[in-house]
Amino acid sequence: MPTKIKRIGVLTGGGDCPGLNAVIRAVVKSALFQYHLEVLGIEDGFLGLIENRMRPLHGEDVSNILTLGGTILGTSNQANPRKFATRDAGGNVNFIDVTEQVVNIVNDRKLDAIVCIGGDGTMAGADNLTRHGLNCIGVPKTIDNDLVGCEMTFGFNTAVTTAAEALDKIHTTAQSHHRVMVVEVMGRNAGWLAASAGAAAGADVILIPEIHYDLRKICDYLVQRRRAGKHFSIVCVSEGARPIGGELVIRERIETSPDPIRLGGIGNVLQQQIEDLTGLETRATILGHVQRGGTPTPFDRVLATQYGYHALELLMAGQRNKVVVLQQGRITEIDIATVADKQRLMQLDDPLIRAARAVGTHFGDE
Ligand code: F6P
Repeated sequence: MPTKIKRIGVLTGGGDCPGLNAVIRAVVKSALFQYHLEVLGIEDGFLGLIENRMRPLHGEDVSNILTLGGTILGTSNQANPRKFATRDAGGNVNFIDVTEQVVNIVNDRKLDAIVCIGGDGTMAGADNLTRHGLNCIGVPKTIDNDLVGCEMTFGFNTAVTTAAEALDKIHTTAQSHHRVMVVEVMGRNAGWLAASAGAAAGADVILIPEIHYDLRKICDYLVQRRRAGKHFSIVCVSEGARPIGGELVIRERIETSPDPIRLGGIGNVLQQQIEDLTGLETRATILGHVQRGGTPTPFDRVLATQYGYHALELLMAGQRNKVVVLQQGRITEIDIATVADKQRLMQLDDPLIRAARAVGTHFGDE
């Protein structure tokens, strides 16, 4: 089908993750070499779009970045054109809508479409732009794996690998010292990362946001293990896990972010509680942003390459306002509006949870 697309922009939004550069490379190379388009790289996600910061991307700019962690374009998880933070003279934060300004910038730059690589927040930003007449194609990124309609975001596989490797290392020191080791992983409100890394490393207890835990039951289980001759235990806890009737543990609130809450610290809370209640020597490790760094796994490089290329295929086929997704193992697309600002959580009967329970993993609820 003939298409009017001649020049596109590409941006990476939200928290970074491994594989972003692999997508940028796929988008730029297919745009330049297969479809003969011009590409502008937008710096620091929607912030660069608002501030009109972009640069042409050529083949040499994306050469040798397939395995590189982070994003050569930079990113921001605090800028949304519809809700952009400014400070008044008194230093107070006010959110204003700069969508019209962005639309003018995109038109001045003669961008026929923008490839927005990001998670649910970025898709919400893109969805807003599509409602003002721009064409945005989304590519699903996040170590949390929580994008609605997508079985696997890129970056997730690498984060699981990193977290599982860390859990394996914790395992040996737990064994030497006969300790309970609590390891906190990221994932926001979704348990995919904790459940996958925990299952991969054979964690004895996995705590996820979707299953509120009973501290007493966890402690009884740990004591019971000790009595049965198991002299150490590994607890893999998601940053978004919480006790029945209890609260989330919040690391900080970022007042200039449209999504201000940053989780973190439940690992330290649990460490103290478990030690106090069981008398077992307990230590905590918070893996934190190490899970977002490093070179993407081969799996993520392949997924990222296919996602980036499919974004271009969609544009050249005349499609508008779609997000590339994986469904039943196939790369396909759905409307961006259906994924904006939503989160895909684990179902309680997820096959991974059922399998983990079957091999004796405790989820803090039984
Ligand atoms: O969404 C990715 C993620 O790493 C979450 O798992 C985590 O809760 C959040 O980002 C951390 O954000 P920040 O980089 O602002 O601390």
